[in-house]
Amino acid sequence: MIRLLPKKIILLLSILILSVSCEQANHNGSAQNSSTANQKRTTLNLKRSNFQKTINGKKTNLFKLHNSNGIEVAITNYGARIVGILTPDKNGNFKDIVLGHDSLDGYLNGKDNYFGAIIGRFANRIAGGTFKLNGKTYHLPTNDGPNTLHGGPNGFDSRVWDAKKLNDQNLLLTYDSKDGEEGFPGNLKIQVLYTLRADNSLRIEYTAITNKETVVNFTNHSYFNLSGPGSGKITNDVLMINSDKFTPTDSTQIPTGEIKPVKGTPFDFTKPTAIGKRINEDNQQLKFAHGYDDNWILNKPKPGMLTFAAKVYNPNNGREIKVYTTEPGIQVYTGNYLDGSTTGIGGKYNYRSAFTLETQHYPDAPNHSKFPSTVLKPGNIFRSITEFYFTTRNANQQ
Ligand code: BGC
Repeated sequence: MIRLLPKKIILLLSILILSVSCEQANHNGSAQNSSTANQKRTTLNLKRSNFQKTINGKKTNLFKLHNSNGIEVAITNYGARIVGILTPDKNGNFKDIVLGHDSLDGYLNGKDNYFGAIIGRFANRIAGGTFKLNGKTYHLPTNDGPNTLHGGPNGFDSRVWDAKKLNDQNLLLTYDSKDGEEGFPGNLKIQVLYTLRADNSLRIEYTAITNKETVVNFTNHSYFNLSGPGSGKITNDVLMINSDKFTPTDSTQIPTGEIKPVKGTPFDFTKPTAIGKRINEDNQQLKFAHGYDDNWILNKPKPGMLTFAAKVYNPNNGREIKVYTTEPGIQVYTGNYLDGSTTGIGGKYNYRSAFTLETQHYPDAPNHSKFPSTVLKPGNIFRSITEFYFTTRNANQQ
């Protein structure tokens, strides 16, 4: 977090963010650019009119970003959600790779799985919906057994954001969260800038300011299936996480406070390993969550650095996602609570038919003084960046 400079801060921020986001990343030498041979380009089959509604006096819509390699990202300002991401496989066949609905009604009427949404004010769980800040105890509505999950029952995922399409690669979304909203203190202004770049990366940049001390933790909750939404289990996908440690939890998925080495456990993804290889092992943590649903502590030379976090590779079609982030942790969730009761784009969303890569601060951080702080003070600017690279490769390439 950096000191706030006076005057027109939001405008300056927008300019700053945009200029940074337009830079080309240089750490993605291996991103195979699919602009070459044999492309079978297409577009996402999503109609804008299906997303145009008025909710509490605010208009919703669908926005599409494009790059010159045929990648397309569709986002609605309802929950600042990613609705679709069209990417090529190793043969240049384009397909959507995230779970979602083809209309706003799908999100409003279906079981809320946070598909593609920006999560706030506090991503992941807060134990008992309670935390202390400056000696005052705050009580939040609970929505996950005894705990508060993803900002509570009416988190940022169910709010209508203001949207400004800056150009074909940049969409700026803003939301003003009021003092006391879902129990959190302070008027919080958050900006999310989605940028689809020429190197096939989607950059998500979060910026926030508050007028009262508060806690914040943001993430994007896209569910990926590299073979397409509704196309079966993700357990053959190969996952690598740049992490030597994780935060074990109790049975309600609240961290115990321990920091445990992954070595010798099914949580060791330091070497690329199929997600399903150890997922059914007799391990208490896996049992608590019915699979992977844990926070890994990312290896980082310095806190806040934009570094490699994780990658997932599909051996059948060659699609690969690589994630970089400034965040200290990543929650990898293997769709253990998807149960086929939601039908979305591509069909039924069954058990373990998607994974998420939720870059974030650690769960329940406000109740753990040893975890990296999630406190945001007035006068400081919260800033966080996550980048998803959509690449392809053959099995023998690294
Ligand atoms: C959580 C899961 C939860 C899912 C959808 C993930 O971020 O870790 O436990 O079921 O979101 O709510």
